[in-house]
Amino acid sequence: TRTPVNVTVTGAAGQIGYALLFRIASGHLLGPDVPVNLRLLEIPQGLKAAEGTAMELDDCAFPLLRGIEITDDANKAFDGANVALLVGARPRTKGMERGDLLSANGGIFKPQGKAINDNAADDIKVLVVGNPANTNALIAQAAAPDVPAERFTAMTRLDHNRAISQLAAKTGAAVSDIKKLTIWGNHSATQYPDIFHAEVAGKNAAELVNDEAWLADTFIPTVAKRGAAIIEARGASSAASAANAAIDHVHTWVNGTAAGDWTSMGIPSDGSYGVPEGIISSFPVTTKDGKYEIVQGLEINDFSRARIDASVKELTEERDAVRELGLI
Ligand code: NAI
Repeated sequence: TRTPVNVTVTGAAGQIGYALLFRIASGHLLGPDVPVNLRLLEIPQGLKAAEGTAMELDDCAFPLLRGIEITDDANKAFDGANVALLVGARPRTKGMERGDLLSANGGIFKPQGKAINDNAADDIKVLVVGNPANTNALIAQAAAPDVPAERFTAMTRLDHNRAISQLAAKTGAAVSDIKKLTIWGNHSATQYPDIFHAEVAGKNAAELVNDEAWLADTFIPTVAKRGAAIIEARGASSAASAANAAIDHVHTWVNGTAAGDWTSMGIPSDGSYGVPEGIISSFPVTTKDGKYEIVQGLEINDFSRARIDASVKELTEERDAVRELGLI
C-alpha cells in the first residue's frame, strides 16, 4: 500500500475550503489510489469551524482519508507537507489601497513561505489560491530560499476553465473538444485569455470564431469579470468552481497534460515571451512526471502582445510594491 501524501490546506474553514476538502479526501486531487493525510491551517477564530468540517469528513468514511490534523501553527501544518494549497488570504475591504492589501497578505504569505521552507517535504508543491494569488505566491516563494522556486505556483486554472466554457458556448462545441487555450499574466481583471492557438475540435479557434470584436468586447471581459458576475448573482464569491480549479491545477501538475493539449498555470517566469524573469505569471504549460514546462515557440500577434504586456506590467508593479514593503 502507498504511503499517504500529506496535503496542507490553509483557510480550511472558508467557503473554498468547504468545497475543496471533500474532493481531496475522495481522491480527486491526486488520484483514486493515493491515500491522503489532511493538515488544516486556520487562524484561531477559524479552528472551531474547521473542526466541524473535519467531523463531516469523518462522516464520509472516505477510504483514502488516513488522517486530519487541525492547527493554527503554520510549522505544524506544513510539517512533512507534500502538497500545500494556500487558500486563506486577507480579502480587499472597502477603502483598502493596494499597498494595504499587499502588506496584509505579506503578513500571511511570508511566514507561511518560511514555514514551508523549514518544515515541508523535499517534493513540496505549492498552489496559491488566495488573492492577489500571483504576488502572494511570489512573497511565499521569496521566504522559502531552500525550496526550488518553480514549486511555487498561482492559480489561473479557474480563468482557464471559464474561458473554455465561454468558447464552447460560442462555438457550440463540447468543452472536451477545446484544447490549447491559454491564460496569460495575472489572475486579475488584466488577465488575457488567448484563443489564437486554441483548437475547437481540431480547428483553430480564432479562425473559427473570426470575430475580433467579440473577442475584445465580449469574450475577454466576460472571462476576466466572471468573478464579479458570480458575486452579483450568487451573493457570495465563487467557491465550488474555485475549489474545482484548484483540484484541476494540482491534478494536472502531478498527473500530466494530455497529448495535444496544455493548461495554464501561474509560475515563476524564466523570461519566456518577454515576461520578466522571476515574476509569477500565467503561461501555457505542459506537465509530465510532476514537472511543468512552458510551451515554447508560439507566435504572439499584436492583439495578444498588447494584452500580455498590460497584465505583465501590473505584475511587475505588484512585485515592485512588495519589494518596497520589504516582503520579498
Ligand atoms: P473565505 O473568507 O470564505 O475563507 C478564507 C478562510 O481563510 C477563512 O476561514 C479565514 O479564517 C482563513 N484565513 C485567513 N487568514 C488565514 C491565515 N493566515 N492562515 C490560515 N487561514 C487563514 O474565502 P474563500 O471564498 O474561501 O476565498 C479564499 C481566497 O481565495 C480569497 O483570497 C479569494 O479571493 C481567493 N480566490 C481565488 C481564486 C483564483 O482563481 N485564484 C478564485 C476564487 C477565490
